[in-house]
Amino acid sequence: MTQTLNAAASLSGTVLLPGDKSISHRYAMLAAIAEGTSTIENFAASRDCHSTLACLRLLGVEVRESGSTVTVAGRGLRGLRAPAGVLDAGNSGTTIRLLSGILAGHLFESSITGDASLSGRPMGRIIRPLRQMGAAVESREGDLPPLRIRGGRLKGIRYPLPVASAQVKSCVLLAGLFADAPTAVGETVPTRDHTEIALREFGAALQTEGNWITVDPEPGLRALDLAVPGDLSGAAFFLVAAALVPGSELFLPGAGLNARRRELLDYLLEAGLDLRVENEITRAGEPRGDLRVRYSPELLRKPLPPIRGERVANLIDEIPVLAVLGSQVAGGLTISDAKELRVKESDRISAIVANLRAMGIGVEERADGLDMPGGQRFRGADIVTRNDHRIAMAFAVAALAAQGETRIHNPECADVSFPGFWAALTKIADVPG
Ligand code: S3P
Repeated sequence: MTQTLNAAASLSGTVLLPGDKSISHRYAMLAAIAEGTSTIENFAASRDCHSTLACLRLLGVEVRESGSTVTVAGRGLRGLRAPAGVLDAGNSGTTIRLLSGILAGHLFESSITGDASLSGRPMGRIIRPLRQMGAAVESREGDLPPLRIRGGRLKGIRYPLPVASAQVKSCVLLAGLFADAPTAVGETVPTRDHTEIALREFGAALQTEGNWITVDPEPGLRALDLAVPGDLSGAAFFLVAAALVPGSELFLPGAGLNARRRELLDYLLEAGLDLRVENEITRAGEPRGDLRVRYSPELLRKPLPPIRGERVANLIDEIPVLAVLGSQVAGGLTISDAKELRVKESDRISAIVANLRAMGIGVEERADGLDMPGGQRFRGADIVTRNDHRIAMAFAVAALAAQGETRIHNPECADVSFPGFWAALTKIADVPG
């Protein structure tokens, strides 16, 4: 399939966000090992989160779906059952890495695999700590999926994270629930803390001291009634689109505002985005609120602040769309320290650079980022998404500000995090002619 897009005269209306992908994965997994039945409202429509639900079902967990409400009958801390077949994480790094932490605490042997993209992504980062904890983990050569895991009673370890990754941190903390002593994870760069927040809500004991997070083993996790906030990383596409298209005004209710994720909002506000956050409330430790965003000519007249150092980890999923924005502002954008982007759903540095160039943007590729002069204009082009949802959606935003028609190939990959993205975009866009 191909999605054809033209420049929009303006964008207006309300965008209903899907439930946050990161939080939905964590709620489903913790509910599965809790005692009793949990109800999760506004569960992510994302294909990735449905990969997590499918894996949990294969592990003997009863999962019911009614609209966006998911009910999970918890089986208790060591209650998952040996799966009858291979677990399939699809495109989802969060599914394979977090679930591996939980599988490492179970005595049975299981195999977990994924699609072509996931099968090329590095798993050594979770294999090493899980082996240190005493789990037997085998992989395809090069530390690649599929993984074969035989878990058991694990040892508590003290593990300094070699890479700034919430997925690795979460994997080790989840495995720590099944250990014989507390497990500590040290972060040099803070990353999203949804696992820590959710673990506490479900009843686990966590202590934080400086950069170290320690989880106590053998908690009795309790079932909860939860509501997932809207996905701020999904909102990012619409925030940038509104900033770029003259006369735009959008309302995005119920967006997640977790401190480690709202770096996006701080960054865009610092850049000059016309944005208001309203009606902020916190449920189950996760803040959420409504966003109102308007066309921001101020922002377009300046450079974007460089994206580098600690900022990278908390903007990691928004970098594709921020690069699109960076090419349009007067002063351009430099991104560095972002080599992790090369091991996401695609090599995102390469995908961003190739598609920017296709749209007529001059950009220099670096090993850990890119460098772009400002004040450039998009011309319509053919966008090769590399089956990466965030590349498809970022370049849809570029298309709204381009001269001429843009064709996005394989647009259905957006379903990985945002089913309904194309419908939402068409609904708010006033396309001339
Ligand atoms: C995620 C963490 C990030 C992010 C991914 C979701 C999570 O990955 O890119 O989309 O839910 O923990 P890393 O932890 O590998 O950086």
